[in-house]
Amino acid sequence: MRRKLVVGNWKMNGSRAANASLLAGIVAGLGTARAEAAVCAPAPYLAQCEQALAGSALAWGAQDVSAHAAGAYTGEVAAAMLADLGCRFVIVGHSERRAYHGESNALVAQKVLAALGAGLTPIVCVGETLAEREAGRTAAVVGEQLAAVLAVLDAASLARIVVAYEPVWAIGTGKTATPAMAQEVHAQLRAQLQDKQAEAGAAIRILYGGSMKPDNAAELMAQADIDGGLIGGAALKAADFLAIIHAA
Ligand code: 13P
Repeated sequence: MRRKLVVGNWKMNGSRAANASLLAGIVAGLGTARAEAAVCAPAPYLAQCEQALAGSALAWGAQDVSAHAAGAYTGEVAAAMLADLGCRFVIVGHSERRAYHGESNALVAQKVLAALGAGLTPIVCVGETLAEREAGRTAAVVGEQLAAVLAVLDAASLARIVVAYEPVWAIGTGKTATPAMAQEVHAQLRAQLQDKQAEAGAAIRILYGGSMKPDNAAELMAQADIDGGLIGGAALKAADFLAIIHAA
């Protein structure tokens, strides 16, 4: 039985004051939630997360990581630095990184290795654009994105990743994949993971992301291969984020 995981991706939002009240609100409302929960904050606020969340049931993580370990890479943040700030998770290959920063499947795979090397859990994002879906290429696109990561992992490291399916056309648009549409892709990803290694592939959490809200979360997460959510907009309000965590 896979424990559900709900991760908030704040994207480039927040301030010290806003984060303080958001984090306090989430922690106060977690109660006896059965799902695992985390927030992925902008890098400058990770120390604030560590201060506010250490010892709580809410984990924290980053939104991106360098593929390099250290050195002359101005502006980049190393996986070891994220681990040093107590991060458990890091999002890798978010569609916004792929689209605006030209991140290739090969670079995403290197970032996954960097994250694993520092003891972090990479949340590997895959997803098709609207044009790709309309051209009937969804299965091929997400299959290639995942394959590039699987190609660099051995069985032991495979067991340590989380996958997130985020159809690009559903991100921040209010358009959600129907539970059946999402499940179809999740089942494909599950089969691909199990093909690589049966036991690890069955245990990996596959999150759905793309306009997940309190009113559609339960139905999405009731699907056989949807093991939680990667939440953007709804993660910026404690009440909405908590409602999704409690729906999981
Ligand atoms: P929204 O929930 O705002 O659609 O964002 C999803 C997302 O990109 C999370 O990583």
